[in-house]
Amino acid sequence: MDSKTLASQLRCPSGRDAVEVGERMNEANRLLNNQCIERLGMGADDSVLEIGPGNGAFVADIVEAARGVTYTGVDWSAEMVAEAERLNGRLIESGRARFRQGDAQELPFEAESFDKVLTIHTLYFWEQPAAQLAEIHRVLKAGGVLCLAFGDRSFMKDLPFVPYGFELYDQERIGGLLRAGGFEVVDACQHHEQALSNTGEVVEKLINIMICRAG
Ligand SMILES: C[S@@+](CC[C@H](N)C(=O)[O-])C[C@H]1O[C@@H](n2cnc3c(N)ncnc32)[C@H](O)[C@@H]1O
Repeated sequence: MDSKTLASQLRCPSGRDAVEVGERMNEANRLLNNQCIERLGMGADDSVLEIGPGNGAFVADIVEAARGVTYTGVDWSAEMVAEAERLNGRLIESGRARFRQGDAQELPFEAESFDKVLTIHTLYFWEQPAAQLAEIHRVLKAGGVLCLAFGDRSFMKDLPFVPYGFELYDQERIGGLLRAGGFEVVDACQHHEQALSNTGEVVEKLINIMICRAG
């Protein structure tokens, strides 16, 4: 797949390549997803929203992180929502998981609906980051926690697909936006990993995991 096509598939997996792209993202991002779920510090009966879960391969890990956790995933890719529903049928039937197709800029939920919000590798695609953070803040309960994970600009800038529509960040840049948006950054760490990139090559990854409390 050429770099431009790959960039567009990472932004919104679609068409006949979507299922395979979803599976490749699972492989590339498994360790990071595990780290984020651990760092979210899930509590009993937490209601969790994930923005951009792709095929939802890690949803079982989220709902099993504590007793009574319920999960909602929002992804704008129809193909990813269909795949996530297929892979998580048992959790949907039991009422512990649900998926919605939609744009995270306008979340179809009441204010203060969630205890936790998780979003991994979606920041690059936010057209209006301040407005997106305001929307996340709106649906979080007071004191609720956002886990935002993204590849650091220093490592991402050399990836061949990045020139095709990726906006890059480091902790300082997003930290300012988070604080202006009413979030307190309570923990910011960096996840280092030598792993498969979405290009199929092994790269040295540097991923920021920011844990932020809604004030
Ligand atoms: C690079 S993939 C990452 C998938 C997954 N979080 C992971 O860790 O492997 C980005 C996902 O976010 C979705 N996405 C990106 N921007 C979105 C938005 N504004 N609203 C809803 N979904 C979005 C894409 O469709 C895609 O499934």
